[in-house]
Amino acid sequence: MKVTIDGQSVEVEPGTTILNAARMIGGDVVPPAMCYYSKLKGSGGKCRCCLVEVSKGSDANPTPMPKLVASCCTTVMDGMEVKSGSSERVSEARKSVTEFLLINHPLDCPICDQAGECDLQNLGFNHGKEATRYQEGRRTFEKIDIGDKIQLHMNRCILCYRCTFVGDQLTPERCHGVMNRGDHAEISTFIQKNIDNEWSGNMIDVCPVGALTDKTFRFKSRVWFTKPMDAHRDCDKCCGKVTLYNFGDEILRVSARKNEYNEVEDFICNTCRFEKKNMSDWTIDGPRKFAKYSVINQNNYSGKMETVEFDTPDQTVLTGRAEDRKAISMINVK
Ligand code: SF4
Ligand code: SF4
Ligand code: FES
Repeated sequence: MKVTIDGQSVEVEPGTTILNAARMIGGDVVPPAMCYYSKLKGSGGKCRCCLVEVSKGSDANPTPMPKLVASCCTTVMDGMEVKSGSSERVSEARKSVTEFLLINHPLDCPICDQAGECDLQNLGFNHGKEATRYQEGRRTFEKIDIGDKIQLHMNRCILCYRCTFVGDQLTPERCHGVMNRGDHAEISTFIQKNIDNEWSGNMIDVCPVGALTDKTFRFKSRVWFTKPMDAHRDCDKCCGKVTLYNFGDEILRVSARKNEYNEVEDFICNTCRFEKKNMSDWTIDGPRKFAKYSVINQNNYSGKMETVEFDTPDQTVLTGRAEDRKAISMINVK
């Protein structure tokens, strides 16, 4: 089937969604996606970030679709024409969805471990408004301890359901669901029940925000001060291919390798993620090249990029903006 998105055409298999067709084209036509995750069956359709305008339904029926549609769960028709980044309506809708997602979101970025690799930060940067119109109190949840490996910050959750799909599809038995509805909806009890197994750490990787973070990495460093390296080991449970986030020779965090859409290439087990924190546990493949558009790879949010050699204890060359010098020296003092 042929589909045209923002003037660029691509041939796809029947059953392909508009979002995946856009990903085949790549670049600015790809809608943001906060809940769809290609490796989790049934994901998508929750966040409405991926709305697009179908300006021509198909060759057989060229009538435009009256409403914007969620591209992650709308399949293409032959001859369909879609407007993504080029549509004013889509742009307004993405702004509204972003504003909606941020209504109850805490202003935690300065202390949130997800900062620098957070899909919501990226969404806010690309589609957010400068100021909030929200005057009511923000919704908050009681803190829940879900174990020694994963930190749950329910206040930051955007209810994308991805972690529930990890619980459903990677852990041995399903014992979860979103509790309550509307403003009271929360994911908690089922996470507690699914957390104690060899694959639970993947919830951290699929969470698009800082609602589920790695307790072993908590407050250790800002992610952009770490030196990401691809590494592997022989593991009898998973692929053993990971990204290490190092400071000097110290491994601060281990995650699965992620692609340009911030999705993992292969899920990894908790042994690799939490138990293997010595360099001798790993064979280093080389520096990680980040495809994802985010601050961690290139300081994308600053206008001018400058390479500065900071005086770090291990003589590492850190690349950053000159104005980051003070922050980095403070980290080194620590
Ligand atoms: S989840 Fe993202 S947007 Fe929310 S506080 Fe953390 S870094 Fe900021
Ligand atoms: S905790 Fe994270 S992955 Fe789970 S529903 Fe909330 S935002 Fe999504
Ligand atoms: S990515 Fe399509 S609705 Fe969330």
